[in-house]
Amino acid sequence: MENKWMNEAFKGEVPSGFQGKVGWASPSNIALVKYWGKRGKQLPQNPSISFTLSECCTETFVEFEKADRLGFSFFFEGKENPTFGAKIEKFLMDHQAFFPFINQLNLKVESRNSFPHSSGIASSASSMSAFVMCLMEIERSLSLSKGRPIDIDLQKASYFSRLASGSAARSVFSAMALWGKTEACEGSSDEYAVSLSEYLHPVFKTFHDSVLIVSGETKSVSSRAGHTLMEGNPYAPARYAQANENIKNLLSALKSGDLDTFINITESEALQLHALMMCSNPSFILMKPNTLSLINEIRAFRNETKIPLCFTLDAGPNVHLLYPESEAEKVEHFIKDHLTAYCVDNKWIADHVGEGPKKLL
Ligand code: PMV
Repeated sequence: MENKWMNEAFKGEVPSGFQGKVGWASPSNIALVKYWGKRGKQLPQNPSISFTLSECCTETFVEFEKADRLGFSFFFEGKENPTFGAKIEKFLMDHQAFFPFINQLNLKVESRNSFPHSSGIASSASSMSAFVMCLMEIERSLSLSKGRPIDIDLQKASYFSRLASGSAARSVFSAMALWGKTEACEGSSDEYAVSLSEYLHPVFKTFHDSVLIVSGETKSVSSRAGHTLMEGNPYAPARYAQANENIKNLLSALKSGDLDTFINITESEALQLHALMMCSNPSFILMKPNTLSLINEIRAFRNETKIPLCFTLDAGPNVHLLYPESEAEKVEHFIKDHLTAYCVDNKWIADHVGEGPKKLL
């Protein structure tokens, strides 16, 4: 694969006067079966499945012009941000064989998130996939300038997004994506995600994700450190076997519309992710007391009303409440009347399953 995309890369001289601006918005995603543990060059230890979100996204614009060598600056929400800029510049330098033309361009990147800074929502999936979409758009414009129109290949976008930030591989597809090789899905790969959109029972395309903000603090363990901690975790082999089993069963539930199995696997995966962090060395507890209170409230409400809602967690204390559109009115009353009391400043974000990246310019 590396060779295929290296061979196809635009290698010619960038025409003089080549300049312009591109823009893409790309969403965040929330994993149902979690990716936690990696090997080699950003390859997952087990396959994962996620919902692509809609409202939680990053908008990125890149201004480019012909230059003698790569020039790079990065602005986040209007302010130059050298730390994040250095991360993206390193990604570009490490992968210039795929994008050799960047060595003849000056790039000015401007990025902003649609979700608030202090929401504790991880933005690497949305920001890295938005940047990759911009890069591919520049390549498209270069090809066009040479009279060779090309389309943006989402598999390639997923591959590059993965190299930039593992879970970003899943953000380029609408509705749901699977990343990681599994016998249960033909065409699946550790190197890029595949779309599950065509495969899903329609109920899953209507899902809401209401993010209940328990804390806006930044995480006390980065996902990079978390993946590394799995290397010494005595439960790692059992975890990877379980994740593969969960993938198989979740895929079949996603196809048939089996909400009970969906709920069972989704909640178990969220708790396993946190259990793995708790029994790593050093150990981390990322749930807060209000995370547990919310989980108890959600389970009690489900038992009482039989409404098929469930929770998942990312590597942090906030609770993602998942439910189909048909139950949205009742669940949103429940959120406002009972759940926001556990949220910081009563804050929650109403999101839903989305369409994947959108071209802005
Ligand atoms: O993509 P990374 O390296 O930030 O890892 C993401 C890990 C989790 O968000 C905890 C799970 C997942 O599959 O998204």
